[in-house]
Amino acid sequence: MRISQRAKGVPRSGIREMFDMAPKYKNVISLGIGEPGFPTPEHIVEAGAKALYEGHTKYTPNAGISDLRKAIAERASLDGLSVDQQNVIVTTGAGEAILLALLSTVDPGDEVLLPDPAWPNYLGQVALSGAQLKFVKTYDRDHFHLKAEAIEKAVGERTRAIIINSPSNPTGAVLSEEELEDISRIILSHNLVVISDETYSNILFDGRKHTSIASLPDMADHTIVVNSFSKTYAMTGWRVGYAIGPSDVISQMAKLQESVSSCVNAAAQQACLAALKGSQDCVEEMVKGYRERRDLLLSGLAELPGIDCLMPEGSFYAFPNITKFGLSSKEFALMLLEKAQVVVVPGTAFGEGGEGYLRVSFCGSIESIKEALSRLQNLLR
Ligand SMILES: Cc1ncc(COP(=O)(O)O)c(C=O)c1O
Repeated sequence: MRISQRAKGVPRSGIREMFDMAPKYKNVISLGIGEPGFPTPEHIVEAGAKALYEGHTKYTPNAGISDLRKAIAERASLDGLSVDQQNVIVTTGAGEAILLALLSTVDPGDEVLLPDPAWPNYLGQVALSGAQLKFVKTYDRDHFHLKAEAIEKAVGERTRAIIINSPSNPTGAVLSEEELEDISRIILSHNLVVISDETYSNILFDGRKHTSIASLPDMADHTIVVNSFSKTYAMTGWRVGYAIGPSDVISQMAKLQESVSSCVNAAAQQACLAALKGSQDCVEEMVKGYRERRDLLLSGLAELPGIDCLMPEGSFYAFPNITKFGLSSKEFALMLLEKAQVVVVPGTAFGEGGEGYLRVSFCGSIESIKEALSRLQNLLR
């Protein structure tokens, strides 16, 4: 059968590529994928199971159940967003939210700005929207923070939107309120749309606070905030995310969702409601666990000759620099897999700006991090 140009135009994720190669090797330790090692907290699982028994087994409204949309709007008020359920759509993960946001706001031929390096799925999502991508580089010397001046330089005649992601996958960078204010001035002066992927907004270290760009003056009308239950509540397999934005955009996104999946799994929505309404101690505990893992990984990496790594400010990824070895990121990652059976992701899976870096996830078990460090130590010695 002839394959469409659109499907061919969507690149494969380099993260999945490494993941698919791993089964060829025995005794593999994976620091490759961003999958929380913690189980979904019990009260959330119980709510999901109970929902099934209580008959939440039918379609829901396209944009999600009203109680969950209201609870998401209430939660957003903690970030300074003044919204109600009309501003919220529940989606199949943050991934679908980003795609629906793009499909609702950009046209083929428009240009979308993307930080480099960035989560590779954005490339596929922008390709599906028919828009053109333009990269805005971020640099090690800036701790990979996206700079307003770089955005200003990249904006052209056809630029319509920008995707930002703080805390960042893969660099762990967290933008400060001042940096977001600088960025918001560029957005307002060029009348752009921001898709603000805040999937890791709860995973912050060293006392950092999350700022949503949508909460800054005049930005609510220019921003679609995307978030997810996947990482905050260790719910990757439940597949629930959401978007918050102007109600006219949200209703377009709900219309598109009808054509894609109709709605999100009904029982999973009930579980997410329990996640938002219940105690948040589980989130605090998991973030404490990620901080412990980050510190373990970073102190281990610091002892390895030739590896330099910035301290991740949020998310659960480290982005060590391996340029001193004179190998490309892909060569280095393949060497780790072949010779030490450790899976990491080459930085180039996140864009050209990732050359010379690896992405190392620290959301798995303490034991896996210790074992990977000891294998790395043996190999590099
Ligand atoms: C930056 C970023 N955004 C979105 C997602 C997708 O999350 P979800 O599981 O909600 O689709 C991920 C998953 O790794 C991610 O890293």
